[in-house]
Amino acid sequence: MKVGIDKIGFYTPNKFVDMVDLAKARDVDPGKFLIGIGQNKMAVADKSQDAVSMAINATSEYIDKIELDKLGLLVFGTESSVDQSKSASLFVKKALNLPKNIRTFELKEACFGLTAAIMTAIDYVKAHEDKTAIVIGSDIARYGVATPGEVTQGAGSISLLIKKDPSIMEINSETSMYSDDIDDFWRPNNFKCALVDGKYSTNVYLDFFKHCFEDYTQKQNLKTSDFEALLFHLPFTKMGQKALKLAIEGQDPETTARLLDKFVAGATYGKEVGNIYTASLYMSLLSLLEVDQPKAGSLIGLFSYGSGAMAEFFTGRLVDGYEKQLAPEKHKEMLEKRQKLTVAEYEEVFNESLKDLAESQEVQSDANGWYFAGTSNNIRKYSRK
Ligand code: CAA
Repeated sequence: MKVGIDKIGFYTPNKFVDMVDLAKARDVDPGKFLIGIGQNKMAVADKSQDAVSMAINATSEYIDKIELDKLGLLVFGTESSVDQSKSASLFVKKALNLPKNIRTFELKEACFGLTAAIMTAIDYVKAHEDKTAIVIGSDIARYGVATPGEVTQGAGSISLLIKKDPSIMEINSETSMYSDDIDDFWRPNNFKCALVDGKYSTNVYLDFFKHCFEDYTQKQNLKTSDFEALLFHLPFTKMGQKALKLAIEGQDPETTARLLDKFVAGATYGKEVGNIYTASLYMSLLSLLEVDQPKAGSLIGLFSYGSGAMAEFFTGRLVDGYEKQLAPEKHKEMLEKRQKLTVAEYEEVFNESLKDLAESQEVQSDANGWYFAGTSNNIRKYSRK
C-alpha cells in the first residue's frame, strides 16, 4: 500500500531579525553568520505565538480541503510544549473543530518529534486504510540573547496530512535508524532556553548521519547518484551542508552538482526562518518542492535528527501533479511581509516571551490568524484575528 504526504501547511511568525544586524550587535563578522552558519534571517515569535497557535495556523492552510470524517489520528510533535500534562493537539482540535472520535496526543524526542509522528501515522494508515492522520511539528528555538546558539534560533510549524495514495509524496517503508543516550542538547523542565554542547552536537549529528545513510544505501542497494535530492534536519543550513558533503564525497560531477543545487533550494526557507526543531526537515522538503519543483517520480532522501539522540534516514517518491497541492506564492508573501525588528526590539520581544504568565492575563496580537490570547484561571486561550 502506498502511504505518504497528501497535504502540507506552513506557518512562521510575522517578525524577524536580520543576521547582518545581529552580527554587528554581537561584534561578529557578518560572514560568520551568513556563510559560516548559513543563515540570513531568523523568525521571532512574540508572546502571542506559541507552539499551539503556530500549529493551528499551519493546519488551517489545508483543513478545508480534507474529508474530516476520514480523520482518525492527530499527533503533535514538539519540544516547546505549553503544558506538562495536556496535549497541545487538543487545543488544535478545538480551534479547528475536528471530530471528537479521533485518537490524539503529543510526543517528544527533540527535533525527531515530527518524524516520530509521521512514522506512527504511516503505521496507523496501513492498519486502517480508509483513515487519514494529521501530524504537526511546531517549535520555537530559544538559546538566549548573546549565546553562541542565538544565531540558530527560529520559530514555525509544519502540518502534514498522511493518507493512502497521497498526492504529494509516497514514503517508502524501509528506513534506517540510529539512537544513543547522548548529552548534546537538552532543556530541563526548569529552563526556558535550551542547553547545548554546540560543537559536540554537530559532531554527533554527522556521526548519526553516516550510520543511517550507509546502512540505508547498503541495505536498499542504492547509490548516492540514485537520489534526486538529499534533505536534512536544518538546525542551521551549514549543518545540512556538512552532512551533504559526506554523502557527495567522490561522486561524479553531475550528481555532485545536482545534489548541491537541490540542497540550496531545500535550504531557502530555512535560511529565512531559522531552526524550527521538529519541523525543520519538512520545511526543507516544502522549500525544495516550492522553490525547485523537482520532477514527479524523483527519489528524495530525508535525514531526521533529534538531539538526545535519535536519527532516521528514509526516502520518498514525488507523486505526479504534486505541485497542485502547494502554495509557493502564499508562502513567499508570508516570508516577505514580515516585520523587521532591530536587535534591541528583538531582545525586548524575546525577554518578554520568557516571562511567566499571570493566572489570568490577556495577550494581544498584531498578526492575522490564530494567536495565543492569554490565560484565564491558568487555562490557555486561543483566538483568531
Ligand atoms: N566568514 C565565514 N565563515 C566564518 C567566519 C567568517 N568571517 N567566521 C567564522 N566562520 C565559520 C567557522 O569557520 C565555522 O565554520 P565550520 O563549522 O565550517 O568550521 C562556522 O563559521 C561557525 O563558527 P564557530 O564554530 O566558531 O561557531 P560557534 O562556536 O559560534 O558555534 C554552533 C556554532 C556550535 C553551531 C552554535 O551556533 C550552536 O551551539 N548552535 C546550537 C546547536 C546546534 O544547532 N547544533 C546542531 C546539531 S544538534 C541538532 O541538530 C538538534 C537541534 O536542532 C538543536
